[in-house]
Amino acid sequence: MEAVLHSELKKKYPVVDHAEGMYVYDTAGNRYLDCAAGIAVANIGHSVPEVLQAMEVQMKKTTFAYGGTFTSEARERLAQQIIAMAPKGMSRVFFCSGGSEAMESVIKIARQYQLERGCPSKYKIISRWQSYHGNTIATLAMGGRPSWREAFDACMPKACHIAPCNCYRCPFGLAYGSCGLQCAKELERTILYEGADTIAAFVLEPVIGTTAAAAIPPADYIQEVKRICEAYDILFCVDEVITGFGRTGKNFAVDHFGITPDIMGVAKGLGCGYMPMGAAIVHEKIVAAMEAGSGQGGHLFTFAANPLACAAASAAMTYLQEHHLVERCAKMGALFLEKLKTLETLPFVGQVRGIGMMYGVEFVADKETKAPLPNEVAISSRVAAYCFSHGLMVTAGVQGCADGRHGEAMQIAPPFIITEEEMDFVVSTLQEAILAVAEEVQK
Ligand SMILES: Cc1ncc(COP(=O)(O)O)c(C=O)c1O
Repeated sequence: MEAVLHSELKKKYPVVDHAEGMYVYDTAGNRYLDCAAGIAVANIGHSVPEVLQAMEVQMKKTTFAYGGTFTSEARERLAQQIIAMAPKGMSRVFFCSGGSEAMESVIKIARQYQLERGCPSKYKIISRWQSYHGNTIATLAMGGRPSWREAFDACMPKACHIAPCNCYRCPFGLAYGSCGLQCAKELERTILYEGADTIAAFVLEPVIGTTAAAAIPPADYIQEVKRICEAYDILFCVDEVITGFGRTGKNFAVDHFGITPDIMGVAKGLGCGYMPMGAAIVHEKIVAAMEAGSGQGGHLFTFAANPLACAAASAAMTYLQEHHLVERCAKMGALFLEKLKTLETLPFVGQVRGIGMMYGVEFVADKETKAPLPNEVAISSRVAAYCFSHGLMVTAGVQGCADGRHGEAMQIAPPFIITEEEMDFVVSTLQEAILAVAEEVQK
């Protein structure tokens, strides 16, 4: 009798057995090359012995201590490691257990900061369409994926959205270089319409993840929106849940733009999948306001800063650094992108893009006009399903990357340890898959 409420009720899920390095094995004896790192999580690879050993050491001491009663050596050590990696000026870490909790915490800390400094009217968050910040009600409200939002619209807190920055599909129909950064200007217009004295923070994914599959903004866009936030006394907050801890080839995506945010939400690559883990990393100015104000550092969750989760993440971060995996991600990531770019000659492949080891393959009906395929074609799920049945895990994107409702892109986000031979297997399998699905679609 089926007892699990799966997200897809009609799907027959393979049963995972074990995972090691780049590979995941199911109980039917199938092996899959994990070119999705689960879902951009297993950045250092699966079952790294050093991490398992550190977890065993912690397990023998304690697996749980409530974070409101105790701190732990693992928690303190991990916070130091994170601050050493984070942009200069970020000074404290609030731990939680995943990306949605991290982004929910970003919202609450931003609001608390405004209260602490005597600005109670500043409560609104400005975020962007074509963004994903989590699946809780508040993070869904802030997110900009219409299909996931609409069922819950009635229960959502107020959120203001602006257009995203996506030069492949400029929402203003302009071209970078002569566009005058209209997408950044929209932030300023929205601030003026809403009233700067009502806005607590602006939140964005510096490189867009699941809703636009690795859409990378020009550096001056990020610098301009940061400047606008400063000019109007609004916190600049980033969602680095996917991009944090090396995924883009630098510790954080903001490092590509020379920017220090006020608050940063992180999760996936922090724990690397060894235990659920997330965090909000805050700038020293936020801490100063809290210290001068209520003396409270914010909220708590029962499982936040769990000692076993902190020990696992700490060992994962040590492994990441000792094996220079962020540098490897940048170097080998550029090579992988070159190989993946060859897919652009295939039917329906509009663009292959990426940075570090975060890639998107966007499908279109027409390469000239970039018109998306009808949703019923479900091209990325079909390509991903073909790959899976041939031993390769990639992620079929959610529909809507073109305009919120239509357009599909596939996400590729391998562990940073992928070899050149494995890259070649990925490219040849994807090529086979796209050609096979294209033939069916064109029939
Ligand atoms: C950019 C971004 N923010 C937040 C989240 C939510 O993270 P979680 O699924 O761990 O709650 C995700 C998850 O994919 C994400 O990609």
